[in-house]
Amino acid sequence: MGKIVLTGIKCTGTPHVGNYLGAIRPMIDMGGTHCFIADYHALNQVHEPKAHAESVKQVACTWLACGLDPKKTVFYRQSDVPEVFELATILTNVTPKGLMNRAHSYKAAIASNIEQKRDADFDVNMGLYNYPILMAADILLFNTNLVPVGSDQKQHIEIACDIAKSFNAVYGDTLVVPKETIREDVATIQGLDGRKMSKSYGNIIPLFCDSAELLKCVKRIATDSSAPNEAKPKEHLIFQLYKHFTGKELDNKIGWGDAKQKLFEAMDKVIAPMREKYNHLMSHYAEVEKILEKGSVEARGVARETLDRVRKAIGVK
Ligand code: TRP
Repeated sequence: MGKIVLTGIKCTGTPHVGNYLGAIRPMIDMGGTHCFIADYHALNQVHEPKAHAESVKQVACTWLACGLDPKKTVFYRQSDVPEVFELATILTNVTPKGLMNRAHSYKAAIASNIEQKRDADFDVNMGLYNYPILMAADILLFNTNLVPVGSDQKQHIEIACDIAKSFNAVYGDTLVVPKETIREDVATIQGLDGRKMSKSYGNIIPLFCDSAELLKCVKRIATDSSAPNEAKPKEHLIFQLYKHFTGKELDNKIGWGDAKQKLFEAMDKVIAPMREKYNHLMSHYAEVEKILEKGSVEARGVARETLDRVRKAIGVK
């Protein structure tokens, strides 16, 4: 049997260029077998039903607009596969609490509370704490071999492996232990201010804003005061993005203004046809719902098999 290559995308806002280069495009290029919208993962952050629904819709349309082929990739919404949540519940019982205490995002939340002299658990919900277990369930349910992710997700994959091994150690060889695959060249995409592109830093370039807005965003990329013909650092976001979008290097002895114009043109050329498809899907969402429905039926077939195996292993009928 071929390798199972699975990835999930958390929907906590409008998809941006960092999502596209770091997750969406690599997964599509790789010909992933499973791709899902991690809508229940988003719930530890998003408590606004309308915003949540809108962001699920945007993420679904984005993946399809970027070229995900639902005939080749099982495309589904996590919440449509209840087997995920049953497996997650089972996995909590072989997951050491200490492993969760060491998870980066939980640790970061605690550290920030302590720094700000608040109670360590202030605003920390169990969704955040159990996040890695739910993610392990997403992965293990489908006998996944590879999970192409950015470096920020590396620890989560390691945790999923640890949980699978703990389960197998107790109940015998039942779950497939996956391997991570991190694409080093796309691991982190910087945002407008040079920090990692992230909604929480407010430094994103939305993927499907219109051309005029895209140009505005590109113009906002922070630059220095070097003269037009002075050599500029090749690691600068402008040169990096140009390379990601064209596969070619942009001459770095170009003025910042010209560089921005060239970058905008290169990005818009790639994005425009996808944007058109995206806008179509957003206004014909029933088509997308149909695809997701079909995906969940397909996903649940394998999910059921794994869950039956797991239930048998733990002594539940
Ligand atoms: N945690 C991932 C992120 O924030 C999303 C995710 C949820 C995921 N479940 C997954 C990624 C399973 C890969 C496999 O981007």
